[in-house]
Amino acid sequence: MKTKIAIASDHGALELKNKVVNRLVELGYEPEDMGVHEDTSVDYPDYAAKVAESVSSKRFKKGILLCGTGIGMSITANKFPGVRATLAYDNYTAKMSRLHNDSNILVMGGRTTSEEAAYDILEAWLNTPYEGGRHDERIRKISELENNFPITGEKRQ
Ligand code: RB5
Repeated sequence: MKTKIAIASDHGALELKNKVVNRLVELGYEPEDMGVHEDTSVDYPDYAAKVAESVSSKRFKKGILLCGTGIGMSITANKFPGVRATLAYDNYTAKMSRLHNDSNILVMGGRTTSEEAAYDILEAWLNTPYEGGRHDERIRKISELENNFPITGEKRQ
């Protein structure tokens, strides 16, 4: 069975998002394209939320988000419990985001990343496993911060 991947962008990365969707199909994945489908200006949080919700709820194991720089998508997606959205600008950061951070959403910038670099980043991210070991405890601490306010220690409602 083909691995499903949720994907979305805003208008700032529509062209690159469409190329990444086609590339995913060529690589044997089943992308679910959650928009945008035209280059009218939209608000990136609306599209970040679609993919981040689908990963946070475990409907999808992995997702991909793109906006002009990748910054807005990263900020928004990381508000969702269990989401580890990582912005990658090159092969090294893509690889490390999987090895050390168990990234479950890859974020790229349509105005900062060439088509060739995007394919390189994509494949590095898809093909690199999580290393586990000492990183498990670090990731557990991230989850803990999602559940308790760091300063007061209060539990989130
Ligand atoms: C849209 O112009 C732009 O702000 C958006 O694509 C993104 O770069 C935000 O971080």
